Amino acid sequence: MTVCEYKPGLEGIPAAQSSISYVDGQKGILEYRGIRIEELATKSTFLETAYLLIWGELPTKEELADFKAEIRYHRRIKYRIRDMMKCFPETGHPMDALQASAAALGLFYSKRALDNPAYIREAVVRLLAKIPTMVAAFQMMRKGNDPVRPNDDMDYATNFLYMLNEREPDPLAAQIFDVCLTLHAEHTINASTFSAMVTASTLTDPYAVVASAVGTLAGPLHGGANEEVIEMLEEIGSVENVRPYLDNCLQNKSKIMGFGHRVYKVKDPRAIILQNLAEQLFEKFGHDKYYDIAVEMERAVEEKLGHRGIYPNVDYYSGLVYRKLGIPTDLFTPVFAIARVAGWLAHWKEQLGENRIFRPTQIYTGSHEAPYVEIEQR
Ligand code: CMC
Repeated sequence: MTVCEYKPGLEGIPAAQSSISYVDGQKGILEYRGIRIEELATKSTFLETAYLLIWGELPTKEELADFKAEIRYHRRIKYRIRDMMKCFPETGHPMDALQASAAALGLFYSKRALDNPAYIREAVVRLLAKIPTMVAAFQMMRKGNDPVRPNDDMDYATNFLYMLNEREPDPLAAQIFDVCLTLHAEHTINASTFSAMVTASTLTDPYAVVASAVGTLAGPLHGGANEEVIEMLEEIGSVENVRPYLDNCLQNKSKIMGFGHRVYKVKDPRAIILQNLAEQLFEKFGHDKYYDIAVEMERAVEEKLGHRGIYPNVDYYSGLVYRKLGIPTDLFTPVFAIARVAGWLAHWKEQLGENRIFRPTQIYTGSHEAPYVEIEQR
C-alpha cells in the first residue's frame, strides 16, 4: 500500500465515490444529482429534492404523492419519546435534545434489515417525518407547553412552522422555509455527512447514523455557525461598528462566523439565494436592521479577505431568514438538521450499496518500549 502524505482535516483526500452532489468551489456551483441548486430552489420542493437525493431521480407525480402521503402518516412521535423528551432539561441545547431523540428512535424501530429496500424506505420516511416533530416538540415543552400535533392537512414546511408557533404560517413564509430546507439538504462529504458515512459503514441502524451526524453538525465550525453569526451581528450592533469590529477580529486572528469554506473560494451559491430570500421576507414583513450590518460586514470582509477566497457561506444569511420566520436562534442548527437528514440518508443508502468499513490509518508520533514507572516514583 502506498503511504499518502498526511493532510490535516483530510483536505482534498477523496473518501468515497458518490453521485449524489457536486460542488465547484471556484465557480460557485452546487448540483444535486446533476441539477443546479438555483433550479431546484425555484422549481422543486424539499420533499421532492429529498426523493431525488435518496433515490437518484426526480419522482413521477404518483411517486411523489405516495412519498408525501407516507411522510404525513409517520409524522407523529410515540408518547414514550415525547415523555422522554419532557425529562430533558429545558436549558439544554436543542441539538443535544435532537441527537438524543434521533438515537432513541432506534429503540422503537430496532429490527434492522439493511438489505431490504422496504426497510430502507421505512427508515427514510420515519426520519424525514419525525425529526421536525421532535424539534418542534422540544421547543414547545421547554416553554412548558404541550407539543402541537402534526396537522395532516399541511405540507412539510407549513406543518413545521405550525408546530413551532401554534399557528398557521403565512404562505410566503412557509414557501421560503421550504426553499431553505432544499438549500441545506445536501453538500457532498462535509463533516456531518462523513460522520454519517463512517457510522453507516459499520452497518449499524440508520437512527444511530443520523444521531452521530446530528452531533457533528452541532459544532460552531459546521452547522452551529448560523447561530454564531446572529450573535456576532448583535454584538456589532450598528453599521458604524462593523469596520472596528472586523479590524479587532483580524488583529486577534479570530474567525468571522459565516465566512470561509473548505471548498468554496467565492460566495457560496446558497448564500446568494438566502440573501435574496431574506430581502423578500423583509419586503413583506418589515426590515431587520441586522441585515444592514450583515451587508456592510460582507463588504468589509471582501475588501480585507476576498483575495484569500473568504466569502459568505451558507450560514451567513440563513439566520436572518430564520429570525424573520420566528425561529429562535438556538433552533437554527436543528432546522439545518431537518434538511440535511435528506443528504445523510442519501449517503447512508449509497454507502450500503458498496460498503467497506472506514478504517483509516495514522502516523504514530509517540514513543516505543517506554518503561512503566511505578506510581511512587512518578
Ligand atoms: N474568518 C477569518 N479567517 C478565516 C475564516 C474566517 N471565517 N475562514 C478561514 N479563514 C482563514 C484562516 O484563519 C486560515 O488562515 P491562515 O492560513 O493564515 O491560518 C485560512 O483562512 C484557512 O482557514 P482554515 O480554517 O484552515 O480553513 P478550513 O478549510 O479548515 O475551514 C471553515 C473552513 C469553514 C471551518 C472556516 O472557514 C471557518 O472556521 N469559518 C467560520 C465558521 C463557519 O462559518 N462555518 C460554517 C461553514 S459552512 C457551512 C457548514 O459547514 O455548516
